[in-house]
Amino acid sequence: MNYEQSVREQTEKLQAAGHATILAIESSCDETAAAIVRDGREVVSSVISSQIPLHAMYGGVVPEIASRKHVESVDPVVDECLKKADMTLADVDAIAVTYGPGLVGALLIGVSAAKALAYAAGKPLIPVNHIEGHVSANYIAHKDLEPPFVCLVASGGHSHIVRVDDYGVYTLLGQTMDDAAGEAFDKAARVLGLPYPGGPLLDKLSREGNLHALKLPHVQTPGRYDYSFSGLKTALINTVHKLRQNGQDVPAADIAASFQHAAVELLSDKAVLAAKESGAKIVTLAGGVASNSGLRNTMNDKCQKAGIRLMMPPPVLCTDNAAMIGSAAFYRLMRGEIAGLDLNATPSLRLV
Ligand code: KG4
Ligand code: ZN
Repeated sequence: MNYEQSVREQTEKLQAAGHATILAIESSCDETAAAIVRDGREVVSSVISSQIPLHAMYGGVVPEIASRKHVESVDPVVDECLKKADMTLADVDAIAVTYGPGLVGALLIGVSAAKALAYAAGKPLIPVNHIEGHVSANYIAHKDLEPPFVCLVASGGHSHIVRVDDYGVYTLLGQTMDDAAGEAFDKAARVLGLPYPGGPLLDKLSREGNLHALKLPHVQTPGRYDYSFSGLKTALINTVHKLRQNGQDVPAADIAASFQHAAVELLSDKAVLAAKESGAKIVTLAGGVASNSGLRNTMNDKCQKAGIRLMMPPPVLCTDNAAMIGSAAFYRLMRGEIAGLDLNATPSLRLV
């Protein structure tokens, strides 16, 4: 039996059984990660190798360096993940991989590794959308979570409000018109002299500042649930430059706190509004910015007031990891959505 026939038969058997143990690989940006996930909800093992120190000296991710580091890391990360789970390739039912969106060179490393493993082991290959992975981190953190729900996805590259109608069925309610939330945090942090990626450091610094110290513009967007962060970012940059030009001190903690407050109000107001107006009973958070302490606290307060249940993954499942890819992959496998060995990286892949 050839590979295609064999994996089709295996997929049908797994669908009928409703169970699968999946080895997932993630390499879309600056983390090389692998995880083994059972039935979409249980993480057997997870390994994340971060490249952040490599890119920090350049102030951002350098795609060529990222690709080279993924090449070095992908095999050892997969080996370590299997070892931690006390498993071999023969013990997993399928191989999953992020095939977009992300940096093309970085994605290609994960996709090539996953294809080689799937072919060598004769197992189905499951293609996963990175954003769908972020949303699915919530299934790992909350075993009782089922669609429908609304999810605010705020990462370094994306800011979306989506309605998850069913597993794999999404309606886009709103999105950013310019910068992604994480990108805005990183740029604001950079102006304050914080190293890349500044989002988490700005979050920390803001805890020591006065969030009303700086008046930042109230951002208007054409869509009711759409975001815009560039005005906020520019206002902050101008304020810092003016202070420096006048030889005045830059109160970094106050500026960080004011920026975070404005960004968090914007993110949370629209997410809760979208949830309320679409009749959602549950709101979830996803993506790197979902680990922001201000966003988590504010969403808690606003959802409580609105009578909406808030669910969010722990910070380690908000930033890039492969466990979330393994979770999304399970539901794809159950729908029979496997890829051929001609799977390619799709850098601008959309969720909807
Ligand atoms: O989801 P993610 O790990 O990667 C992408 O898919 O983009 O998100 C990374 C982004 C970075 O911009 C990072 O600065 C931001 O998430 N981030 C934060 C925090 N932790 C990570 N932004 C604000 N506060 C945080 N605590
Ligand atoms: Zn991500």
